[in-house]
Amino acid sequence: MYCVRNVTEDLYWVGANDHRLALFENIHPIPKGVSYNSYLLLDKKTVLFDTVDWSVCRQFLENIEKVLDGRQLDYLVINHMEPDHGASIEEVLLRYPKAKVISTEKAFMLMRQFGFNVDGRMVEVKEGDTFSFGKHEVVFVSAPMVHWPEAMVTFDTTNGVLFSADAFGSFGALDGKLFNDEVNFDRDWIDDARRYFTNIVGKYGPHVQALLKKAGTIDIKIICPLHGPVWRSNLGYFLDKYDKWSRYEPEEKGVMIVYASMYGNTESAASALAASLVEKGVTNVVMYDVSNTHVSTLISETFRLSHVVLASVTYNLGMYPLIHNYLMDMKALNLQKRTFAILENGSWACKSGTLMHDFLDNEMKDINILDEKITLNSSMTEDNLPEMDALVDSIVASMK
Ligand code: FEO
Repeated sequence: MYCVRNVTEDLYWVGANDHRLALFENIHPIPKGVSYNSYLLLDKKTVLFDTVDWSVCRQFLENIEKVLDGRQLDYLVINHMEPDHGASIEEVLLRYPKAKVISTEKAFMLMRQFGFNVDGRMVEVKEGDTFSFGKHEVVFVSAPMVHWPEAMVTFDTTNGVLFSADAFGSFGALDGKLFNDEVNFDRDWIDDARRYFTNIVGKYGPHVQALLKKAGTIDIKIICPLHGPVWRSNLGYFLDKYDKWSRYEPEEKGVMIVYASMYGNTESAASALAASLVEKGVTNVVMYDVSNTHVSTLISETFRLSHVVLASVTYNLGMYPLIHNYLMDMKALNLQKRTFAILENGSWACKSGTLMHDFLDNEMKDINILDEKITLNSSMTEDNLPEMDALVDSIVASMK
């Protein structure tokens, strides 16, 4: 059965949801599923904007067939070639033999690399090129590294619809709801949107900034991303989030304590630290056990908050592997502008504090590391309280 929604009177959402996929990009958990959005415009010409992941292609084809209602497909615009959107290109071209593909030079190169035959059907466009489909005129805007180098976005100057590719997307299946005003985004979606952005596009903050600058020059009324809800109201809310995330500015002043604890002693010290922070008025405190929190959530929370306490045991005279993995991910995703504090533990050769400090100092940009730190020998005792008090005072002072 087809499942489509009107976006505007002549533009339709023809995408599909996937509730079966456990890991997006085979790495990020998506317990609420994901949507692969595609849009079909019925103008003098018929135009499909992007395709979907192969896993939902059958639903997608049924949706297209319903909306076309016997018409041929004239154009397929590919804004982003990553296979979660590009995998069904060849199937669409096989079923609609007159359709031409509009995309960038790099996207066509990637299509060939992925084995798609688009010979004789390519319409290559570049930054600023315009195209008329009848009533609707569009301009193509390059968006390199948001999130692959070939990416572009397409702006319909007739009705203000921006086909934004991966930008302004989110994890989470739509489940019938399509627009941001049909969901409680700030309650139910923002965490997944942040986790999507920070882990998928987080590395490319300056490129997102460049796209936001271009977006500021056009009168956008509706944003149609390739994942998650379509934005038709309160655009400023999401644009502001994107601006903060891509400048690596925290959304909130608050402390995230990420702890690695083998037998519960480091966890106990982390809890005492959290309680002490709250007693001193810092109530925005969250604790995460690195061993049972997926690193994509840790990254997302690190983008949200201003302060991070790394509390870790020493392991094989080195860093605890999962703390190391978290730090490596932070570096890969270009995280900056955060204040870190360290709580280290070691029963005979306590090394974790120095190693974590050196990583932050040598491998990352624009990071503030507080001088005060807590060193435990196996477990926390009252002898450690002066160190803890000093660290808490330092965190409180750094928040002002
Ligand atoms: Fe949703 Fe970069 O693909």
